[in-house]
Amino acid sequence: MESQPAQQAILQKITLGDLELPNRVVVAALGRGRADHEARAPTDLHAQFYSNRASAGLIITECSAISQDGDSYLGSSNIYSEEQIQGWKKVVDAVHEKGGRIFLQIWHGGRTAHPDRNGGHIPLSSSPVAVVGGGNTLPGVVPKEATLEDIKTVQENFKRAAQNAKDAGFDGVEIHGAHGYIIDQFLRDGVNQRTDSYGGSVENRARFLLETVKEVLTVFTPQRVGVKFSPMNTFHTMSDSDPAALYSYVLQELSKLNIGFVEITEGFSFDSQVHQEAKDKFFQERTEKSVRELLKPHFTSGLYITNQGYTIESGNQAIESGQADLVSFGALFCANDNLVERIENGLTLNALSNVKDPEVRGKYLYSHLPDGYTDVSVYEAKE
Ligand SMILES: Cc1cc2nc3c(=O)[nH]c(=O)nc-3n(C[C@H](O)[C@H](O)[C@H](O)COP(=O)(O)O)c2cc1C
Repeated sequence: MESQPAQQAILQKITLGDLELPNRVVVAALGRGRADHEARAPTDLHAQFYSNRASAGLIITECSAISQDGDSYLGSSNIYSEEQIQGWKKVVDAVHEKGGRIFLQIWHGGRTAHPDRNGGHIPLSSSPVAVVGGGNTLPGVVPKEATLEDIKTVQENFKRAAQNAKDAGFDGVEIHGAHGYIIDQFLRDGVNQRTDSYGGSVENRARFLLETVKEVLTVFTPQRVGVKFSPMNTFHTMSDSDPAALYSYVLQELSKLNIGFVEITEGFSFDSQVHQEAKDKFFQERTEKSVRELLKPHFTSGLYITNQGYTIESGNQAIESGQADLVSFGALFCANDNLVERIENGLTLNALSNVKDPEVRGKYLYSHLPDGYTDVSVYEAKE
């Protein structure tokens, strides 16, 4: 028998360190390109967007660049200038006023950054291997292989960004280790070709991440820090020869640091339903387990947030089966600001089945306008 809406697993409360989360519905990071291209600071529109989602157990913000050179997108809302900190403060205050909890996703784009968008800097990466575009990323610039000094600088910038986030009032931070950005570029051997202590073995490739987390832990207590990964995702031409070994190790090491959560994007790409259906099959053929079945047992210090392609039903199942503690939603939170209330009341959800429609992308997902951002009615399913 179907459970009553209010008794669903996804609506049960849970604790993240000393934070009480009233439900297990998480707003996944959603970069929507609404910031001014010069200031790259959040505005009142951002405050409205995030506070409209304050009933979620946890909000994770869009990716926020820790330094200008690491920015890959026009319209990002970053965290290295005073104006940006003040802009985020308004967002945080608006969410807190409505009783919500909000973590800033701190991010460096690595080789996905582009001189046309990052103040003219040659992008940095683990190795001089160019990205072949993807999403809103410009293709083509061969990145500079980060020197040991560059590595230290990026890690210090992550720490500074965490401090700026704290100053803005954020409850914590999520370090962006997914989707082909700089941390991912060190982790996965499809890009990382280094022969020093940051390349080669799984332990060496994880070093950049683990040192970065330790820097951030000098600012926030461990349970206020999470990391996002995408072990299988080929977005930004990423790959790894043995994701099961890599991410098992990474999660074990992060557990030793006692961090609060990991968020794991499961799919191959963001392109289609096909990938969502294929994702578990691919992984199971190699490991006999789904991504979450394989990885969750390795993370013992906090909460496991599963992501990508979930419906409310499959999210409930993942939690009920013990394979996840929470579920984060991207597309569904673009289309439904009041997602939690809709789940509670068993209401129909707006669909975002048209997320790849170029018209929707240009006009609503990444435009400068409130349309499709703080007014989600435009996302009613087209079919
Ligand atoms: C418009 C849009 C913007 C996104 N921006 C980010 C981002 O800034 N950081 C990030 O980690 N993921 C980002 N993602 C990915 C989502 O957080 C999420 O991982 C992905 O949409 C899969 O979840 P879903 O199937 O529930 O949508 C974005 C996705 C969309 C649709």
